[in-house]
Amino acid sequence: MISIDEMVAFCRRKGFVFPSSELYGGIAGIYDYGPLGVELKNNIKKEWWKNHVQERDEITGIDGAIISHQKIWEASGHLSGFSDVILECKKCKNRVRGDHFIEDKLKISADGMKSNEINNLVKEKKLKCPNCSGEFNEASNFNLMFPVNVGVGTGLTAYLRGETAQLIFADFKEVMNSARLKLPFGIAQVGKAFRNEIAPRNFLFRLREFEQMEIEYFVKPGDNKCPFIDEVLNHKINIYSSEMQSKNQKAEKMSMKEALSKKIIKNEWHAFWLAHEHMFLISIGANPDNFRIRQHKKEELAHYSSDCWDLEYNFPFGFKEIQGIADRQAYDLTQHINHSKQDLSIFDEESKTKLVPHVVAEPSMGVDRAFLLIMFDAYTYDKERENVVLKLHPKLAPIKVAVLPLVNKLNEDAKKIHDELKKEFNCYFDTSGSIGRRYARQDEMGTPICVTVDFDSLKDKDCTLRDRDSTKQIRVPLKDLNMTIWKLLSGKINFLDAGKLL
Ligand code: ATP
Ligand code: GLY
Repeated sequence: MISIDEMVAFCRRKGFVFPSSELYGGIAGIYDYGPLGVELKNNIKKEWWKNHVQERDEITGIDGAIISHQKIWEASGHLSGFSDVILECKKCKNRVRGDHFIEDKLKISADGMKSNEINNLVKEKKLKCPNCSGEFNEASNFNLMFPVNVGVGTGLTAYLRGETAQLIFADFKEVMNSARLKLPFGIAQVGKAFRNEIAPRNFLFRLREFEQMEIEYFVKPGDNKCPFIDEVLNHKINIYSSEMQSKNQKAEKMSMKEALSKKIIKNEWHAFWLAHEHMFLISIGANPDNFRIRQHKKEELAHYSSDCWDLEYNFPFGFKEIQGIADRQAYDLTQHINHSKQDLSIFDEESKTKLVPHVVAEPSMGVDRAFLLIMFDAYTYDKERENVVLKLHPKLAPIKVAVLPLVNKLNEDAKKIHDELKKEFNCYFDTSGSIGRRYARQDEMGTPICVTVDFDSLKDKDCTLRDRDSTKQIRVPLKDLNMTIWKLLSGKINFLDAGKLL
């Protein structure tokens, strides 16, 4: 796997991602997605939405506002409790995130460590500022929410949402009533979230502005039987429970069936969502072996969470969270009931009583982190070709087809083919450089299929299709081009069965 710095350079060179506002010096933790990046990112979100919302009967979606009422964040506990511990150097004023600093220095897990514990460690181990070796001030809590002033002189402070989830809770009643949902059900949302991270780092991994793809999955209190569990029982994944971590054991690959029967995962819903999310990432091209699921230790749990598992990916900088799957129980709805004085309970036909649904699982995946792992798994340097081949799943590839006239004289005819194809697929027309150079360019962009137009194409009414991963070439009649490309991209046909091998 390449290093994170090499990935940053590649993303920039190919126009996937670059620092935002760089013209004026940029802002740490804020990036812009370029021409290829926006396509890839949109494709990830589109596939997620299709898989998690459109293909499921019991999940519906919303698109909540980004600027949200202060009371939402008071009720949710974010204004009082959504903070990280900050250490500031007395001398050079350098600020570091306490838990990350302790982890880097002492090579111990510090997730969830409180400011007093961090203070004690700093004193005991005589830890100094990494910048100037100066002493630190006492560690303090730093709230991650971004306030915004609304209107002129209204005195109303709102907040950029720190997670998309709260909008789902705040809209719960509206969605319930309009979509006529019956437990168990989920409400999904994809969108921006903002956190004033103390020390953004590792490129797209830790941002101040990022996107989430989240579901709040509501069940009756105490329900731990998932009707979809059979879909995942045989699915295997590396499991790293809190017990394995405290006993310093290694993660163990096992099926969900085994994990449930050994009570490593206690709740069928958790097993279902953990496996489902792993399977989803595999279905869009991720390498299954680069993941593990890790249970939060008690001291790591967020203020609202009674159990939480993370789906982690093995980045060049270690196993890190891609997705948290927390059990939030009735925490959020109860908080909003208490703060808003509105009735957010629902009537249960079976028991003929009102109840406040529990969130048994909250699969919450960062779009930017998913983007990054997809890039790492796709990035391959081909020694023979002497260029990068970005082996993106065709569903995610920013450009699906490139049309390349062999020589300039064929530009006009090739352009006609391109204009037809672009009605169906995101296409790229390239006339500059040798054909080899143009293939290499498309390999680096992750384009699965190149269509080459030559003089025989005019005579025989056919063209050459070149496969990105194998570089094999086949000849296909022009009249079948659209359908053949569609079949290839959707995996309905193998490349070598789609035409005459050259
Ligand atoms: P971490 O421990 O890495 O800070 P977190 O536990 O705070 O992550 P959650 O609060 O569980 O993260 O957020 C849900 C998901 O949102 C994460 O799994 C991640 O994919 C994404 N996410 C959270 N914070 C960021 C961030 N600063 N930059 C990019 N993605 C993020
Ligand atoms: N909604 C989960 C999180 O962002 O923390």
